[in-house]
Amino acid sequence: MYTEKVMDHFQHPRNVGEIENASGVGTVGNARCGDIMRIYLDIDENQIIRDVKFKTFGCGAAVATSSMATELVKGKSVQEAMAVTNKAVMEALDGLPPVKVHCSLLAEEAIHAALWDYAEKNGIKIEGLDQKPKSDIHEDEDEEY
Ligand code: FES
Repeated sequence: MYTEKVMDHFQHPRNVGEIENASGVGTVGNARCGDIMRIYLDIDENQIIRDVKFKTFGCGAAVATSSMATELVKGKSVQEAMAVTNKAVMEALDGLPPVKVHCSLLAEEAIHAALWDYAEKNGIKIEGLDQKPKSDIHEDEDEEY
């Protein structure tokens, strides 16, 4: 059911932890399953993501996708990090079972929330990040799903 890469990132997640005095912090929840994700970004003066860490109360798929997402944004510019969508993360993991796709949204949204926090603190604008990211990935969906 899970690919080898998903199992690897689930069993050996990269970049778990927190960053003190992070440049940006983003927290996102999924009201349906109750899982929570927090991402910390350390961004240098050239807007390059020097370090990234995550903490989650999340399922295995959330752990694996966040681990992969942090690997993908590390060393990138804040603009490049915007291209790390949940789709890109799933592709890098060779896929996720359909019922677990929503879990991968936690990482994407938490990265956006952390970038938003960074942009706000520094009075800059990040292209593609025009409104405050959601804090709950189901916030604007219908009840039945
Ligand atoms: Fe909640 Fe996966 S079941 S994030």
